[in-house]
Amino acid sequence: CGIVGYIGANDSKEILLTGLEKLEYRGYDSAGIAILNDEGVNVTKVKGRIAGLREKVDASVQANLGIGHTRWATHGEPSEDNAHPHQSASGRFTLVHNGVIENYYEVRDEFLDDVTLKSETDTEIVVQLVEHFANQTEDVLDGFRKALSVLKGSYAIALIDNTNPDLIYVAKNKSPLLVGLGEGFNVVASDAMATLKETNRYVEIEDKEIVLVKRNGVEIQKLDGTVVERESYVAEIDASDTEKGTYPHFMLKEIDEQPFVMRKIIQEYQDKNDTIKLDKDIRKAMKKADRIYIIAAGTSYHAGLVGKQFIERLANIPVEVHIASEFSYNMPMLSEKPLFVFISQSGETADSRSVLVQTKALGHPALTITNVPGSTLSREADYTLHLHAGPEIAVASTKAYTAQIAVLAILAVDSARAKGIDLSFDPLQELGIVASAMETLTDQKEEFERIAQEMFETTRNAFFIGRGVDYYVVQEAALKLKEISYIQAEGFAGGELKHGTIALIEEGTPVIAIATQENVNLSIRGNVQEVAARGANTCVVSLKGLEKDTDQFVLPEVHELLTPLVSVIPMQLLSYYAALHRDCDVDKPRNLAKSVTVE
Ligand code: G6P
Repeated sequence: CGIVGYIGANDSKEILLTGLEKLEYRGYDSAGIAILNDEGVNVTKVKGRIAGLREKVDASVQANLGIGHTRWATHGEPSEDNAHPHQSASGRFTLVHNGVIENYYEVRDEFLDDVTLKSETDTEIVVQLVEHFANQTEDVLDGFRKALSVLKGSYAIALIDNTNPDLIYVAKNKSPLLVGLGEGFNVVASDAMATLKETNRYVEIEDKEIVLVKRNGVEIQKLDGTVVERESYVAEIDASDTEKGTYPHFMLKEIDEQPFVMRKIIQEYQDKNDTIKLDKDIRKAMKKADRIYIIAAGTSYHAGLVGKQFIERLANIPVEVHIASEFSYNMPMLSEKPLFVFISQSGETADSRSVLVQTKALGHPALTITNVPGSTLSREADYTLHLHAGPEIAVASTKAYTAQIAVLAILAVDSARAKGIDLSFDPLQELGIVASAMETLTDQKEEFERIAQEMFETTRNAFFIGRGVDYYVVQEAALKLKEISYIQAEGFAGGELKHGTIALIEEGTPVIAIATQENVNLSIRGNVQEVAARGANTCVVSLKGLEKDTDQFVLPEVHELLTPLVSVIPMQLLSYYAALHRDCDVDKPRNLAKSVTVE
């Protein structure tokens, strides 16, 4: 979910709506705003997108204070009633919330017996609880504090009191929230991107802090009331990076940006002598580690699988890759000197953060590889490696995936060299070759559009197969296709398909094989034959030098370790065109959110 708030001299509606549009990547199943002026509070909510909210908002009501929310449903279906803001029984308090209140039932039964709840959300509990305690103590701040001290779980909250149009109460625990500073106004946002039009100066809020946001200043307090002083920082995001420009979709723009991202990474990780430039402390931490635990979710997890190969093969350090949401309660036996590497585009994924909190408590060092250096996972880990991919807006991740793989290759080589391992592989030079190869692929969009139409126009399912590192890429390929085209897809190890899943192959079932690895080139082609013999509609994407006449597409040659960086591009484009021709919402697929800040 995404939160935005404004208090200042201007009308708040447009600022809130524009802010929410920028936050839609965090969820878009319902939305709402509440604005407050001397006449009272005015709440507008809709099921669906911000565009619908924009239409419904009453343009004639002016107010220079407001809060807004765009939702990714956790408790309660997407509906107008369950959309935020939520109000207390008397209507005095109005609140937006991101996170999950874990002791929802306990709180309801213990404190809110006499309140009739209007929604199915855990959020409504929070606003009712504030009113409950504010009535008891007759002091809103005190009531807010009391309410927060009772709540268990994660929250980022912005609260307004309709008897006080000069203040937004803000609090945070485990869910991201920032306060943006302006001249005569201040803003609140889940992500700096939402309010970049207003200001680029932000203050971080730490867990279990309250912030009193007024027109002319903000005051941060701990839950016990102690005042906290904190320096602000400048968010280095270029507002134009968050626009689509002439592209029909962010996803297509981001696919096309990948060669530039590769070059940017080379530039950022290269020192004057053309060798790798990397934080010495990270080098030391890698050298010290006897085992690396990569933790990630979704596409970042798939990048982690490729990274494991780099680190093990080049730097000789054993690596385990874990799905973040499984790790917490299914922790493997840890080595003596583990290093935890969190891979996260957003740096906000709650599943990953929960592992970080857990492993930090055990005293283990952590490195975060992220596209957002000021993010929670970056701030809370000991070290950060930046992806330099620029804002990724489309929900389906593309350029962050390739950036993650590129940075992992650099990290692996740097660690190998630090251990005195002599390598002929120069990742910076090889990434230059990859960048050009990517360009030749993104220049052939019509070809992929044609293949996508042939393979996916009407199918209900699809299979991707590969061996070795191609197996990791086909998992990402299947995820991409599922996410945006809703075609049920699976990425399989070439040799495994025959052990069960081949039963699903029917006349015309699409099977896409990636063949970039010499040592398994014959066997993956054998697997293609097996499915073709059972009626599959096959498509082989191979690497130059390993191709056969019948292959549908031949990828330009790159270093064998870096083939995922090029083989994934056709997969991204195939998914894009499949979704486009099936009339799907490419940038905002149903049920998803780009940044999932609940566990
Ligand atoms: C969400 C997104 C995925 C993403 C995953 C991990 O589920 O929809 O596209 O891969 O989160 O996100 P992260 O920001 O941690 O890489």
